Amino acid sequence: MLNPPDFVPVITGYLPAIGFAAGSIAVTATVLPATRYIRADKDVRRSIRRAYVIRRGWASLATMSGLTVTKEPSQLSMAASQLGEKQQQPKARKIYPAIKTRPDRFGFTVTARTLPKVGLTQWQAAEEDLRNGWRVERVKITQPKPGLVAVRAFMREPLEAVVHSGLVDQTGKLHVKPGSLRANSEILLGHTEDGEPVTINLATGSHGAIQGVTRSGKSNTANTIFAHAALMPDVRMVIVDPNLGSVAPWWRTAHTVSASSSPEEACTVLEELRAEMERRQGIFWAARTDKLVDFTPEMPLILLAVDEVSNFTNWPDRKLADRFRMLLQAVTSQGHKFGIRVWLLGQKLEANVLNTATRTNLTSRICHRVDTVEDYLHMFPDGRHLEVTAAERSMPEGVGIASVPGLVTPSRMRSVYLPAEHCWAIADAIVEVSGEVRPLPAPKLTLAKEAALRAA
Ligand SMILES: Nc1ncnc2c1ncn2[C@@H]1O[C@H](COP(=O)(O)OP(=O)(O)OP(=O)(O)O)[C@@H](O)[C@H]1O
Ligand SMILES: [Mg+2]
Repeated sequence: MLNPPDFVPVITGYLPAIGFAAGSIAVTATVLPATRYIRADKDVRRSIRRAYVIRRGWASLATMSGLTVTKEPSQLSMAASQLGEKQQQPKARKIYPAIKTRPDRFGFTVTARTLPKVGLTQWQAAEEDLRNGWRVERVKITQPKPGLVAVRAFMREPLEAVVHSGLVDQTGKLHVKPGSLRANSEILLGHTEDGEPVTINLATGSHGAIQGVTRSGKSNTANTIFAHAALMPDVRMVIVDPNLGSVAPWWRTAHTVSASSSPEEACTVLEELRAEMERRQGIFWAARTDKLVDFTPEMPLILLAVDEVSNFTNWPDRKLADRFRMLLQAVTSQGHKFGIRVWLLGQKLEANVLNTATRTNLTSRICHRVDTVEDYLHMFPDGRHLEVTAAERSMPEGVGIASVPGLVTPSRMRSVYLPAEHCWAIADAIVEVSGEVRPLPAPKLTLAKEAALRAA
């Protein structure tokens, strides 16, 4: 009788462990992608499905688009086969670039290893075949590092796709708990035309400006910043808005609001901020520091937003207008180190609205559609040399040119969509948890609500 080899009992001993490991790998390999699919929204799911189809059909598409290499048998294997009994000729082997796919809401990115004679140039030459084979609108082929090629495939153009803000679902239900964000949480403003996220960070970022003609999407973009700020307990919101365009949803939650069109009230708000700067200066002495970097509910970051700045700077009473400009300049030029971030909004932020001293401090800039190149140049003085412009009649609502920390050059961006109804829903959720700072001014803003109540 033959004895089993010695190693069999050893392996048999490990069988349960091996089985468990193999089972875990199989479960992870199935459960993880399934969970990712279930949790994804409609657009990402479409990309996940397409990426799966692409991986399955890759061998055939790679062959047809000339992205394979043929590996001839080595001299050694030829010689070995001749010495062997069957004298069978070894065959040439076809090699495909191994690919990985990463789906996202606009499509997917395929990354592949390069092969000898199948590098960036060959991938670029195959662009049309890839676009047709994968049924995508556009592909962008780059080489992130030697030995690797990345193909970004767009099923939807990022500048055309409406992407809802991640704060709420499409019915306006809040995804984020009030008070759960922090001043240094990233704020997703939108996506570039290549689908890259455009974010700002209040704590580490600069002052900013948002410009654009009426209905170009300024308030939507500003509301994305305000909505995040409203959910941050270490941020204090101060909104000056002569048109009630931006401030209305945040009326009950912001620390300070001003809806007066005369510069007097706006000047009072700015003076209060200067007083706060002085108070903080005193604290700096005590703490032996010269800059605020960590924010707390007791020492919050102050977000000052002024909508329609030109209303104040071009006020008929020149003295009042000048006082406003002087105060605004003081807060913008010295406020940053005291934890103040200023965001100014306007249809045209031209020289008589913002003087150079104030403007140079507003380094984050977003320019939605404007009428003339001159208007665009107010925000981007070197705009004539840039590839992108905001002086384009066809530019849709929500699209603009953005220049924020993290973007190498000013880029086209479509802002995430956050309609006013959703801002109201976010404010409702905050009020439910923390109560309201002030009631809505009756009866103007509550008219619709009362009518609805009476009708009910
Ligand atoms: N990213 C976006 N995606 C889809 N629609 C958008 C987007 N941004 C804005 N819109 C829509 O465009 C319209 C105008 O937007 P918004 O009110 O923000 O413009 P505005 O520049 O503030 O105008 P105004 O100067 O009149 O205050 C709104 O109906 C808004 O829903
Ligand atoms: Mg507006």
